[in-house]
Amino acid sequence: MNAEAITKRTHTCSELRAQHVGEVATLMGWVRRRRDHGGVIFIDLRDRYGLTQVVFRPEEEHLQERARELRSEHVIGVRGVVRHRPQGMVNQDMVTGEVELEAQDLIIFSESKPPPFLIDEESGALEDMRLRYRYLDLRRPPLQRALRLRHEVYQAIRGYLNEKGFLDIDTPILTKSTPEGARDYLVPSRTYPGKFYALPQSPQIYKQLLMLAGFDRYYQIARCFRDEDLRADRQPEFTQLDIEMSFVDEEEIYNLTEDLFKHVFAKTLDVHLQSPFPRIDYWDALARYGTDKPDIRFGLELVDLGDIFSKSQFQVFSKVLQGGGQIKGINAKGCGSYSRKEIEQLTELVKSAGAQGLLSFKVTSEEEASGGLQSAVAKFLSADELSQVRQRMEAQDGDLILVVAGESRLVANSLGQLRLEMAQRQELIDPDQFAFCWVLNFPLFGCNPETGQVESEHHPFTGFLEEDSDLFDTDPVKVRSRAYDIVLNGVEIGSGSIRIHRRDHQQKIFEILGLSPEQIEKRFGFLLEAFEYGVPPHGGIAPGLDRLIMIMQGLSSIRDVIPFPKTTTGASLMSGAPTTVDESQLEELGIALRAQKRSPVDSS
Ligand code: AMO
Repeated sequence: MNAEAITKRTHTCSELRAQHVGEVATLMGWVRRRRDHGGVIFIDLRDRYGLTQVVFRPEEEHLQERARELRSEHVIGVRGVVRHRPQGMVNQDMVTGEVELEAQDLIIFSESKPPPFLIDEESGALEDMRLRYRYLDLRRPPLQRALRLRHEVYQAIRGYLNEKGFLDIDTPILTKSTPEGARDYLVPSRTYPGKFYALPQSPQIYKQLLMLAGFDRYYQIARCFRDEDLRADRQPEFTQLDIEMSFVDEEEIYNLTEDLFKHVFAKTLDVHLQSPFPRIDYWDALARYGTDKPDIRFGLELVDLGDIFSKSQFQVFSKVLQGGGQIKGINAKGCGSYSRKEIEQLTELVKSAGAQGLLSFKVTSEEEASGGLQSAVAKFLSADELSQVRQRMEAQDGDLILVVAGESRLVANSLGQLRLEMAQRQELIDPDQFAFCWVLNFPLFGCNPETGQVESEHHPFTGFLEEDSDLFDTDPVKVRSRAYDIVLNGVEIGSGSIRIHRRDHQQKIFEILGLSPEQIEKRFGFLLEAFEYGVPPHGGIAPGLDRLIMIMQGLSSIRDVIPFPKTTTGASLMSGAPTTVDESQLEELGIALRAQKRSPVDSS
């Protein structure tokens, strides 16, 4: 045999078993590592399917010499005979662990420099390094698993929706701004100097236009682009499963979405979800969990203590209540032995979430005089107030009651974060559980605290309860929307709504949002015009697939399920994007640059 003959692989690196013993096989892949054992050389050969041990025996002197040249990540082809591993050498942890390939021929397709980090389950490298050499990182098993799951999720989605009569339709990438609350990425037009396309923040307007066009069941696995502050679950370009349907109400969308997730989880993870998913009112979610994306895998709910202190002598409390604020707490069961340092850490956490401070009460029967609660502020509170707190919090000896007082939004935010922190510290979260819930009855508008301007809570195409339309001119923030979010393990994985399908309503919303008639015409004239040609009632939803797959894989960053992600400052450490361009390209586009702002320091 000669190396030239190695042209076709016969098996992958996870296929060979005892039944193949005696057969000739050709494998191709990457050298995971080489071990020299007293004359015998072992290679773990890796491809995306798995690993197989290849052995070079001393009798094949010429081959051995070449095998000695092999280094990690060289790409090779090996032809040989499948052998049983000697007794005691069987590796039960490897699917191919019963056999090895006894090499008879070797070809080195290409050599590799020593990789900058370990290409294994754990790389030991900082993320920046992994992103810089993403193609190497992608060889590691966790990323291989993530991209495989991603593929399977896509197939399961398509299988399900195709079966239900949905059409998969593309929408443009070079488009006009679709407001979803972020900045647009702009693309200058060469043919129209001074004019720009916007990359879609979502296909929202187009999917609505497809409903107008009669495609009553649409879906698309769509790339979306948003220039916003990035973090672990946000990327500048990300992928949504965009769905829209005509002649439907909320219930139909909830049912379809739940069935779809049940199908996807069963097909890809063999996990069987229970439906219907719990439904939580938006205000209830804020009150009980301090957030509109509650993690319902554990309790530790926020408890309102305001009424207990309605006549309190304690100025901190009475001032907050007079100012319309709230006093709420959580009961950290069994944390009564927390040290001063630990409580300081928790205080820092609530402060960084906007609270003034954190009041802590250790529950102990030794402090009978103060209702069984030990606290720096106990002396300012009456025994009756303290014992009511203890009762309301259902506290027992050894518990720690943590209380925040202040403006209701800050109380919700800080205690919501503290709830998550305590759940983690106390290991209350079952990492294998998938807890979905719907959050319903969002307000249509919110008020921007900085500008005082009314803004869409979701997007300006969201429908509303018609009986609330009287409030448009008097108290718009009280108008209830027909929007819903779907939340999984405390992460918002999807949003949707029943849409506005009347021109006058859509126009009114733009006006309330403070757009002038000229701005409305310029930005949305084409949509309003379309609304004059027969619009079916319609609605939809868009789950974010990166977040979904991240949670399915038990990960906490969407970068770990995206093949080529960007850093939190929107840079590609591998390609160097964004980059400057040639002067001639700018000239062609009619663009002159102003003095440069400094680039952000990359802090991915
Ligand atoms: P929304 O803006 O809520 O709704 O987005 C829907 C879902 O997309 C995901 N998502 C993101 N994922 C990663 N990185 C980001 N920067 C990012 N931004 C959003 C989230 C989110 O729940 N057109 C509407 C949907 C509709 O009304 O049908 C929309 O885009 O999982």
